[in-house]
Amino acid sequence: MAAFVATNVWKHGVQEAAIPSPARSQVPPGQTASTASTASTASFAKPLLALGVAARVATRRKKVKCNAMSRRDLLAAAPAAVAPVMPPAQAAQATQALQVPNFGVGAWAWGDRLFWGYNEKQDQELREGFDACIKGGVKLFDTAEIYGPGRSEELLGTFLRESGAKDVQVATKFAAFPWKLDRQDVVKACKGSLERLGMDSIDIYQIHFPSVWKNEVFWDGLGDCYEQGLVKAVGVSNYGSSAVRAISKTLGERGIPLTSNQIQYSLLYRYPELNGMKETCDELGVKILAYSPLALGALTGKWTPSTPPSGPRAAISDKLQKDAAWPGLLDAMKDVAQQHGPETTLSQAAIAWCIAKGTTPIPGVRNVRQAQDNIRATQLKLSANEVQALDSAAAKVSGFLSPEASPFNSLSRSMDTKQAMYEA
Ligand SMILES: NC(=O)c1ccc[n+]([C@@H]2O[C@H](COP(=O)([O-])OP(=O)(O)OC[C@H]3O[C@@H](n4cnc5c(N)ncnc54)[C@H](OP(=O)(O)O)[C@@H]3O)[C@@H](O)[C@H]2O)c1
Repeated sequence: MAAFVATNVWKHGVQEAAIPSPARSQVPPGQTASTASTASTASFAKPLLALGVAARVATRRKKVKCNAMSRRDLLAAAPAAVAPVMPPAQAAQATQALQVPNFGVGAWAWGDRLFWGYNEKQDQELREGFDACIKGGVKLFDTAEIYGPGRSEELLGTFLRESGAKDVQVATKFAAFPWKLDRQDVVKACKGSLERLGMDSIDIYQIHFPSVWKNEVFWDGLGDCYEQGLVKAVGVSNYGSSAVRAISKTLGERGIPLTSNQIQYSLLYRYPELNGMKETCDELGVKILAYSPLALGALTGKWTPSTPPSGPRAAISDKLQKDAAWPGLLDAMKDVAQQHGPETTLSQAAIAWCIAKGTTPIPGVRNVRQAQDNIRATQLKLSANEVQALDSAAAKVSGFLSPEASPFNSLSRSMDTKQAMYEA
């Protein structure tokens, strides 16, 4: 029960704090986002520890202390760790092992009660949304063990099995919670996901976020899953440039390609373009899976002062409405949409922008209408001028979440590998 509560507390904290944060793109020159967020205490680590869920960590205190020693060594050796290891050509060749589609659908809302207000009565609507995705040619679905928790994987597995769809990739994620410390934890979690999905192997198995304590063991565990045939490809999520290089090197030594890095990327969160993350992934042949490409719904244009979203998203909407540059971005999106016919929506423009940047957007879909709308974005080819116009309008919108509120920044000092790991 404690774990269940902790999972929800943690997830809520992380996901809510991980909402689009353009403010991070406004980090003063010469500083990284992590150095800019000085006093950031881990907003979600606190409730975790208070709940006592780190009991397993405590029993291993001695071991953690040793790791703290080696952490200093690792940080001292950071320049070596950030050197590219797998030659780009080799990396690009390796990633060809799994062709990631240029569009996918995210299933975080399928089962999540805290943020998305899920209840079982929605299952039929979700199933119809899923079927519309299959009918529309969607070949990639993203879920995670902590979505639901577990419910999203169960629903996705059931929908997939009962639809009889073939050649569909399923990506799910290992949650690197602080009480997980061994490579075997990854294998165990992977088997749990396989069971909930009702599948023999996972197409892309990702580490959901870096661990507070140590990460290399999880990279080893990810490799074990691959070598044991439990997964067809491996990826990470919420990893920064140096961490992507480091895990790419570690896996490369075992002949395992790093397929993807799933990061927040949208017109309201362009930080990966500014911090070198996108460049690194492009260089290494690591596909970016762009999460929250609609900024949790904001970029659909349906949030207005008189029609705000309910729940945790209300505060985001409120802040956006007060931003003088926000209407300018919506107008730029409308202009682009109008160029592509009357059926083109703002959501399609936002998703097409992600595709134009070379990423694979994975918008959340909760019903047939959203599925059909979002899928149509794959037919929308934005011109360079249109992308430029959207970039310019987006750059003027200021943040609605301070950098220090992001858990991916706040934990950067407790990293055992790379200071810049949370810059994604
Ligand atoms: N790795 C990570 O840490 C991480 C973090 C977040 C998300 N993700 C992944 O990324 C996926 C997508 O991100 P997200 O769900 O956070 O946000 P999103 O894709 O930006 O927004 C999805 C939400 O927008 C609304 N929507 C979607 N299409 C619409 C349309 N055509 N018209 C109107 N409204 C529409 C729906 O909510 P309403 O109907 O309620 O408005 C939907 O749930 C997730 O499902 C998950 O797989 C990963």
